[in-house]
Amino acid sequence: DDSEGEAEEYLFKVVIIGDSAVGKSNLLSRYARNEFNLHSKATIGVEFQTQSMDIDGKEVKAQIWDTAGQERFRAVTSAYYRGAFGALLVYDISRRSTFDNVGRWLQELNSTYSCYTPLTFFSLCFFSYLDRLLAHSDTTVAKMLVGNKCDLDNIREVPVEEGKALAEAEGLFFMETSALDATNVKTAFEIVIKEIY
Ligand code: GTP
Ligand code: MG
Repeated sequence: DDSEGEAEEYLFKVVIIGDSAVGKSNLLSRYARNEFNLHSKATIGVEFQTQSMDIDGKEVKAQIWDTAGQERFRAVTSAYYRGAFGALLVYDISRRSTFDNVGRWLQELNSTYSCYTPLTFFSLCFFSYLDRLLAHSDTTVAKMLVGNKCDLDNIREVPVEEGKALAEAEGLFFMETSALDATNVKTAFEIVIKEIY
């Protein structure tokens, strides 16, 4: 990470969360590099990319954290939600179970520090404080519910209306995307980043 000491005025941390294989890594690779991988491997732990965008003539840098959806990494990845100003909570429109788990992901995102040891608690507070200083912002998280794989409409298990309704009930933005054909990918990231800004 080379974010320190540079001229950029804004740095935001955004996390991508959701069940395994919903397409989180491909959403990020589509957004950051315009790449899609039909045979991508499951993410281990977390990976991040820094992406710049121009908002009102200012360069805004988003540090986008792609987390592992697999259960066995849960303890590690949840530590990375801290200090995030934006979150994309992704499910797969062709797999109902991934939508049913959205509530769990939301809970993790909103959960307090209390489950951590004092040392973890302290360091997380410290880093989120640093993040806040860097980003000149409060802790309000811009969250978007993302129904990915909308190219698979023929085997859809979650109607658009259901996604919309859940998002509305939980106070989230909502969008259906396809990392495969690039539908709404840029828009989804940019809505979240602009909202934080
Ligand atoms: P974890 O890293 O295990 O949490 O999974 P992930 O959410 O990062 O999923 P990943 O991006 O690795 O994608 C899983 C599979 O779904 C891969 O085979 C992708 O090619 C496929 N995939 C991702 N996005 C789309 C999409 O928009 N449409 C279709 N049809 N397939 C997709
Ligand atoms: Mg992944």
